[in-house]
Amino acid sequence: MQSSVGLSFPPGFQWGAATAAFQVEGSVDADGRTDSIWDTLCRVPGAVVNGDTGEPGADHYRRYRSDVDLMKALGLNAYRLSTAWPRVRPDGGAENARGLDFYERLVDSLLDSGITPWITLYHWDLPQALEDKGGWTNRDTAYRFAEYTASVLERLGDRVHNWITLNEPWCSAFLGYALGKHAPARTEPRATVAAVHHLMLAHGLAMDVIRSAAAQAQAGITLNLFPVVPVEAKDSDIARRVDGLQNRVFLDPVLHGRYPADVLEDLAPYGFADHIADGDLAVIGRPVDFLGVNYYRDIYVTDSGVPVTGPTEWIGAETARFPARGLPRTDMGWEVVPGGLTDLLMSLHQQRSDLPIYITENGAAYVDELIGDQVEDSDRVEFLDSHLRAVHAAIAQGVDVRGYFCWSLLDNFEWAEGYAKRFGIVHVDYPTQRRTPKSSARWYAQVIADHGLR
Ligand code: NOJ
Repeated sequence: MQSSVGLSFPPGFQWGAATAAFQVEGSVDADGRTDSIWDTLCRVPGAVVNGDTGEPGADHYRRYRSDVDLMKALGLNAYRLSTAWPRVRPDGGAENARGLDFYERLVDSLLDSGITPWITLYHWDLPQALEDKGGWTNRDTAYRFAEYTASVLERLGDRVHNWITLNEPWCSAFLGYALGKHAPARTEPRATVAAVHHLMLAHGLAMDVIRSAAAQAQAGITLNLFPVVPVEAKDSDIARRVDGLQNRVFLDPVLHGRYPADVLEDLAPYGFADHIADGDLAVIGRPVDFLGVNYYRDIYVTDSGVPVTGPTEWIGAETARFPARGLPRTDMGWEVVPGGLTDLLMSLHQQRSDLPIYITENGAAYVDELIGDQVEDSDRVEFLDSHLRAVHAAIAQGVDVRGYFCWSLLDNFEWAEGYAKRFGIVHVDYPTQRRTPKSSARWYAQVIADHGLR
């Protein structure tokens, strides 16, 4: 270890970067792919900033080889990608070999370059044809997800050993079915709670498929977890509710095989329990090999006492308000709270000290300027550096964190924000698709080379 490294990470700690299919691939009509719920939403005027769509993305579908070269040049150990359900099983129906061929080519290039592939099976691109049958409100969607998982595992299970079932099911359920900000842009509280359960069931069913297809696989789920901080002591009940809906309703069934009693009560008015069949929690609670944590910020919450009228993501906590603390913010408007990541990791450790954790996403959008062939994103460097220090602090206190994936490798389609928000450590000039590593990419390459922070 070089003496200039102040904080070194444990041996074997994985350094990665992450993307997701719909955000980077483009080529939405190629090789038999059909519409996902995001293709549909992008056509709705006003739904996505600037009317942006999945085209061109970062044109990764066609440029994956040179992108893998770029990853290799940065020294990445691992790359987290997602497979697109509508490529693998267009319309949620029969398998499409050409869709699988793409992921096989991508995975093989990664392996040839010594980069470990991590595959997320669901990063929000539900086939539109399945949404037409009710989407995640329909229990059948969970079984269709298991079939799609089987297709991907059959093709890639011999060489991909790291699997993530779902990415951030909170977003799929609450942003998609309650707030209407994400596809399928519904604002129906009762549909939301159905979606929560069916997503978790899909996770459990997929775990079984992965286990039977690839005995050596390491598999888990990625949740977007937030420490929930009450503004004052009187806000403890709203903080409990928000924590229940944001974190525990997803976390507890995975960690402990049950939904929290208080959340069942908070969601009773929306008919949550009606969807839970005998045996479901045993499936949802199948042992995972790791927990994937996406961390961006915490939630600072107060009870306004006044119910929000109209759509809210906080089904069951409609009086919540989120005051600003005057902390620095990213271009998403999110306050920068690196210490929250240490707190979160410590709390997970207290609940299940035996479960390895991977930070499957962490990063920030900033207004980047390409000047000549340079992007000096010192704000992003500071963000990543402070969050890696927060991870290190947790490791130093005994938390078993085994890897870190920065979000994102490339600038990409930031969902309802379109291409306006840039999270990449590599700049993408969309008209030319030219890649320019930002100063954060050079900084990260040094962190990886040092296996630590200076
Ligand atoms: C979480 C999501 O998984 C990812 O798709 C998104 O781009 C980032 N957060 C940033 O918002």
